[in-house]
Amino acid sequence: MKKYYIKTFGCQMNVYDSQRIASILEHLGLKAASSPRAADLIILNTCHIREKAAEKVFSDLGRLELLRQERLEKGLSTIIGVVGCVVQAEDEQIAKRAPYVDFALGPLAYHRLPEVLAKLGRTRGETIIDTEFPVESKFDFLPPNNTSSGCAFLAVQEGCNNFCTYCVVPYTRGIETSRPVEDVLCEARGLVARGAVELNLLGQNVNSYHGKDSSGKERSLAYLLNKLNEIDGLKRLRYTTSYPADMADELIACHKNISKLMPYLHLPVQSGSDKILKAMNRRHTAGQYLEIIAKLREANPLLGFSSDFIVGFPGETDADFEATLDLVKKVGFIQAFSFKYSRRPGTPAALMPGQIEEKVKKQRLDILQNLLFSGQLNFNKETVGKIVPVLFETGGRHAGQLTGRTPYMQNLHAELGREYLNKIVNVRVTGATVNSLTGQKEGK
Ligand code: SAH
Ligand code: SF4
Ligand code: F3S
Repeated sequence: MKKYYIKTFGCQMNVYDSQRIASILEHLGLKAASSPRAADLIILNTCHIREKAAEKVFSDLGRLELLRQERLEKGLSTIIGVVGCVVQAEDEQIAKRAPYVDFALGPLAYHRLPEVLAKLGRTRGETIIDTEFPVESKFDFLPPNNTSSGCAFLAVQEGCNNFCTYCVVPYTRGIETSRPVEDVLCEARGLVARGAVELNLLGQNVNSYHGKDSSGKERSLAYLLNKLNEIDGLKRLRYTTSYPADMADELIACHKNISKLMPYLHLPVQSGSDKILKAMNRRHTAGQYLEIIAKLREANPLLGFSSDFIVGFPGETDADFEATLDLVKKVGFIQAFSFKYSRRPGTPAALMPGQIEEKVKKQRLDILQNLLFSGQLNFNKETVGKIVPVLFETGGRHAGQLTGRTPYMQNLHAELGREYLNKIVNVRVTGATVNSLTGQKEGK
C-alpha cells in the first residue's frame, strides 16, 4: 500500500485544504505515513503571505530532494508535489528552482490531483503545473470530507475582493466565491456524524458569505449560522476570518441569539491610523472599527476579541504607530497576531514610497507585542480559579496529558486520559501563562 505525507504551512484554510487532499488520497487507496521518510508521495501545502513563509518552501524542497535520492538508493521511488498559494504566485519559480518537483497545483485546482497522479504514472519528467482558476468549483469534484475530529474546519467561502494593498490573497485565492448553503449543511452534518462537536467556518472573508440556498436565493453568514445551530450533536460554532466593514447587523445579532456561537471573534484591524488604513485600502477607519466592537459588545458583553496587526507599512510614522497602540488599549484584545510588513511582489504597497527600515519595524513590533502579550496574560490570569468548559482536541506535551480549547480559544493543558479526547469537560483553571492555561477536571 502506497503512503502519503502532507506538510502544511499558512492559515487554517490550508489546514482544511490538506484535510480535503488527504481525503482524496485515501479515496485513491493511499494511507497516511508517519514521516516524509516513510512516504511514497510527499505534498507541501504552501503559504505566500509573507516572504519568510514563501522562502521556507524552497528550503524544504531542497531537503526533500535529498530524501528522494536516499530513498532511491534503497530502490524506493518518491513523488514530490507542491500545492497552495506559493504555486499560484510562483509557478515559474518552482519549475526553475526545483525542477525535480513532479507537480504543482494552485489552491483552487487540487481536485485535479487524481488526474495528475494518473498522468505522472504515464510520463515521468516535466513538472505538471496547474495554476488556472478553474471555472468549475473544486468542491463539486471532491470526495466527501472524511476528517474525524472533535473540532473541525469547514470552508464556506474562498477568495477575496478587498485587495488590501499589502496582500497576496486576492491573487492566490482569486475573487470571492461562496459555497451553496446545502453543500455546507451536508458537509457539516457529515463532520458531526464523524465526531465533530465544534465547527469553525472558514473563509478569507467569511462574513461576506453569500451562498445560494436550494431555491437560488443568496443567503448570508447569519442565515447559515442559524441553520447550523440546529444540528443535533454540534455544541460549538465559530467563524473566521471576518472583515470589519462587512460585519452586518444581522451577523452581530447572532452573537446574542445563537446559543452555540462561542464568545470569541477574530476581527483583524491591521492598524489604528486612518492614514495607514487608507493607504492599505481598508474600507474602515479606526473609529468605525471601535464602533463595530461596541455594537458587538452590546450584543454580547462577554465577547473577547482577537486581531491581526501589521507594523511598518510604507509611510507609517511614529504618530501612526502610536495610534495603533492607542486602539489596542481601547479594545483590550484577548489574543492577537502581529507582523512586520513584508513587501510582496505584485502588490501595490511593494512599490509605495516611504518603505520602513527593518530596524524600525522590529522596534515597533517589539513594543506592540509587549502591549498585546500583557493584555493576553492578564486575560488568561483572570481565568485562574474559574471553571471553564474545555474541548480536548489533542494529546498534550507528555503522556497522560490532553490539550484543548476554552470558549475563548485559550489553549489549556490538563492531566487527563485519552477517553476525554473530543469531549467538552468542565475544568478548574489552576495556572496561566501568556500562551496557555493549565487546569484540572472538576468532579469525578
Ligand atoms: N483574510 C484574512 C487573513 C489574511 S492573511 C484577513 O483579511 O484578515 C492574515 C494576516 O496576515 C493579515 O490579517 C495581515 O495582518 C497579515 N499580512 C497579510 N499580508 C501581509 C504582508 N504583506 N506583510 C505582513 N503581514 C501581512
Ligand atoms: Fe488580504 Fe485584505 Fe483580503 Fe484579508 S481582506 S485576505 S488582508 S486582501
Ligand atoms: Fe497563506 Fe494562502 Fe492562507 S497565502 S495565509 S495559505 S490564503
